[in-house]
Amino acid sequence: MDKIVIQGGRKLEGEVEISGSKNAALPIMAASLLSAQSLVLSNVPDLKDIQTLSHLLEGMGVKIKNSFGTWKLQAKEIKDPHAPYDLVRTMRASILVLGPLLARTGRARVSLPGGCAIGARPIDRHLRGFEQMGAHIELQGGYVEAKAKKLKGAQILFEDVTVTGTENMMMAATLAIGTTILGNAAREPEVVDLANVLKQMGAKITGAGTDTITIEGVPLLHDAEYQIMADRIEAGTFLMGVCMTGGELTARGLSAEYLGALIAKLEEVGAHVEIQKEGIFIKAPSVIKNANVVTQPYPGFATDFQAQYMALMTLSSGVSLVTENIFENRYMHIAELARMGADIKLEGKTAIIQGVPHLIGAPVMATDLRAGASLVLAGLAAHGISEIHRVYHIDRGYEHIEKKFRKLGARIKRTKVKY
Ligand code: EPU
Repeated sequence: MDKIVIQGGRKLEGEVEISGSKNAALPIMAASLLSAQSLVLSNVPDLKDIQTLSHLLEGMGVKIKNSFGTWKLQAKEIKDPHAPYDLVRTMRASILVLGPLLARTGRARVSLPGGCAIGARPIDRHLRGFEQMGAHIELQGGYVEAKAKKLKGAQILFEDVTVTGTENMMMAATLAIGTTILGNAAREPEVVDLANVLKQMGAKITGAGTDTITIEGVPLLHDAEYQIMADRIEAGTFLMGVCMTGGELTARGLSAEYLGALIAKLEEVGAHVEIQKEGIFIKAPSVIKNANVVTQPYPGFATDFQAQYMALMTLSSGVSLVTENIFENRYMHIAELARMGADIKLEGKTAIIQGVPHLIGAPVMATDLRAGASLVLAGLAAHGISEIHRVYHIDRGYEHIEKKFRKLGARIKRTKVKY
């Protein structure tokens, strides 16, 4: 197992190229199941979650070739529409194969994902949607067994917003008979990226990016080529890192419109941000002001920024409140940040953070992906040496994280843990 070792206290400075988006690439790769023809994808990030999904798809018969970030996926024939527990338990996004499998083959057997470190994360909204489209669903031995001779268009109103639920339903509806209308749909940019690929494959979709998406089913989808959007969560993580360490940087390759809520908040805490032709320029605040956030679905403040923002607020000049509204248990980083000298109390869904003059390096443990990122940022800003364990959580969603920070001037390296 690896650990990341950081000698903190160096300003981040320079330019960082933002990688392809994990949360756009995953549903888009799953969409390859919808057609017998090939899907060629560029800007696919080199991440553990991407490898996990490609193993899952290969197990079903999808032929996959990867050459320097450009992937060719072809599901000529789906031999086994089955997503086994061993792969699904390591990555909840595996549930994204359910819609495409059901639409293409009329059956699917997908392990229930179960809980994870950030909360219970049920899939009831996905399953209710498929039932409304005429699927017969049974839960047996920890698996979802789904069958549908042919899915039918339906009006599906999500009780609450779900990102992968919207994506799953949108993919399934592309091959259904008739029209599907998704109400209270997720508006995340990754949903729009998926809709764009599906449209290139011949799907008829309108309204992606709004809360009502209409999909008119077509008999077949065909080949397409597509470039995955850049990762807004990775970009935001770097922007917050600069605010914590001092310095200035330009994040290249991402449209700033996807970071509206975060950029507004970073300006509120004193950062100077400029949207330039080459990317997003940020200069760290001289004093980090305190400001509250509440996580919300897009275009609100993303839950995927909550942990990193909390790390930033540990160094603010006052008291700030961070309220997590999406995942009930996404607070595992609090205890780890406290090991580095942070002053945080949790009351229900709200963390109360009293800023401290500085953090102190310590051995800590990543408990999930974004919690891990928050510890890297804390380590970069802290006095002294930090060791971050369970780096595999971070590798699920950040491409070459230590190399990118090293290029910006950080003293950060990855080493093997000897037990
Ligand atoms: N929920 C239900 N029932 C459902 C579906 C969701 O109760 O059937 C609940 C969830 O438990 C959660 C809330 O609804 O409390 C929202 O969950 P959502 O379905 O939107 O989350 P997700 O689709 O499982 C995606 C991202 C997450 C990101 C969330 C919220 C992917 C692959 N994952 O998850 O990304 O935090 O949306 O924006 O797109 C990450 O990258 O670190 C990550 C966790």
